[in-house]
Amino acid sequence: MNYFDHNATTPIAPEVLAVLNQVQAEVYGNPSSIHAAGQRARRVVEAARGQVAALLGCEAKEVVFTSGGTEADNLAVLGAPGGHVITSAVEHPAVLSAVEQRGNATVLAVDSGGLVSVEALRAALRADTALVSVMHANNETGVVQPIAELAAAAHEAGALFHSDGVQAAGKIGTDVRALGVDLYSIAGHKFNAPKGVGALYVRDGVKLKARQFGGRHERERRAGTENVPGIAALGAAAVLPAAQTGALRDLLEQFVLERIGGTRVHGVAALRTPNTSNISFAGVSAESLLIALDLAGFAVATGAACSSGATRPSHVLTAMGIAAEESRSSIRFSLGRGNTREQVDGLLAALERAVARLRKLSPAHA
Ligand SMILES: Cc1ncc(COP(=O)(O)O)c(C=O)c1O
Repeated sequence: MNYFDHNATTPIAPEVLAVLNQVQAEVYGNPSSIHAAGQRARRVVEAARGQVAALLGCEAKEVVFTSGGTEADNLAVLGAPGGHVITSAVEHPAVLSAVEQRGNATVLAVDSGGLVSVEALRAALRADTALVSVMHANNETGVVQPIAELAAAAHEAGALFHSDGVQAAGKIGTDVRALGVDLYSIAGHKFNAPKGVGALYVRDGVKLKARQFGGRHERERRAGTENVPGIAALGAAAVLPAAQTGALRDLLEQFVLERIGGTRVHGVAALRTPNTSNISFAGVSAESLLIALDLAGFAVATGAACSSGATRPSHVLTAMGIAAEESRSSIRFSLGRGNTREQVDGLLAALERAVARLRKLSPAHA
């Protein structure tokens, strides 16, 4: 399989899988138990907490392990103090739905490049604004928001700042002190760790209400026996060098634009994660193209994995002012560790063939 859907999820890296298997097989104690088996598990969890803290540039005690990105986002948005909340129109549903649950929200528009403006945030901030949540990198386009500036504006108004860093971790810098955020979500399966494990950075001093009740785990911020193997694997993935995908992504875009007419890359005006490319192919249904590529052995996506199958156009592309028809002809290519030049060449050839065939079938391009 030629896999170009790393923003949906990534394969586990071999060195991470080795840690996962070893801990799964050997470290069976409960980290809360006092005996040696329990303390061994505790050491594994705390070592991983240190590794995740290194990825985020924070202290180990500021890391709360969760079951993934959705839980981290929900915990940040719903666990932060009550009051008015501001978010953006291009957030992942894990943030948008949690904001909806809170109510009393302002949703900021983005410009045609997919960016939230600092001025728009300043204008929306109110005396009762308790939280601002703007994602670091977008899952559909890779567009990177000016987090440091947005967080500074939120702080000037006395609000906390959360960023969904699920698509940033392992791709671009995620130093939470440099970003100036108070809360920051990551998910292991987006950077070569297993599914079902993630973390929320909670700046020391931020009062966060737990959303899950029971034992006193994770400094009373998230009850439940820790997923010890998953956490160990998350730690191992956190210290892998960042995946180098920028050159191949740029090549893919350059060749598509050169060789296939009626194509447009979305979000190019902004800084983007180096692995993501969202391209529309005029006159072609993205679903049909996805299926044709799948049959040829290439995995790509139409927008976000969780919304594929839905007939609605992408809320992210719509927010960028892209018409429904163009949105429905857009494919997301997301590269990762292991993609090769040969695979990109193969993808380009398959794309050229499939687009030509689909356009022949479509009356608008007959
Ligand atoms: C930006 C973003 N936030 C949150 C999530 C949810 O993460 P998880 O799948 O670990 O619950 C995703 C996953 O698609 C994502 O891309």
